[in-house]
Amino acid sequence: MTWEINPHQHLVRQVDRTALNTHQPACLWFTGLSGSGKSTIANAVELRLNREFQAHTYLLDGDNVRNGLNKDLGFTLPDRVENIRRLGEVARLFVDAGLIVLTAFISPLRADRERARQIIHPGKFVEIYVECPLEICEQRDPKGLYQKARQGLIPDFTGISSPYEPPISPELILHSGQFPVDDCAQMVTAYLIEQGILG
Ligand code: ADX
Repeated sequence: MTWEINPHQHLVRQVDRTALNTHQPACLWFTGLSGSGKSTIANAVELRLNREFQAHTYLLDGDNVRNGLNKDLGFTLPDRVENIRRLGEVARLFVDAGLIVLTAFISPLRADRERARQIIHPGKFVEIYVECPLEICEQRDPKGLYQKARQGLIPDFTGISSPYEPPISPELILHSGQFPVDDCAQMVTAYLIEQGILG
């Protein structure tokens, strides 16, 4: 079975694109609570991949997905399911293009992350749980959203009034409440080297 898209129609295939790169394609799927540090760590990883490994990368996050492709979606559970479904499809295209794509979304439901793993390619999906206790996320509260959620001003807020299902066996767990961003980023690149994704 192949996960390549339109393998019979496209003359240039994933394997041809990958041959031009110094790395294998992969999807680094960061999941965790709001304020856990997903975006910050994913940014630091992408910077290392670009500067130190000359890897072809792209970071998908709320800034470039929720403001554009998914701007019709809110935060009810059905909307989040659709957010993650579309994100999985977009990430799949990036992997087919030969890139290392990083995604930084809460992606609160296990079933949705599992679906993304299956459509992208189980062997190319690196689930990275950015573990940070709710109390620390709430103390950080970079956008003041937890405070508003506690006041009942934001409905369906993850960890407060909407569920978060932690991964059961992610490829990596980063304890972002205990380790600095650079250490977490280094753990990711070390894992990618170990797995042969980076040269
Ligand atoms: S997801 O659940 O669909 O994966 P996503 O990662 O796109 O969520 O967006 C989460 C970000 O949107 C949070 O970091 C926060 O800044 C903002 N946000 C706004 N409303 C909510 C809400 N109800 N629950 C969680 N995050 C929210």
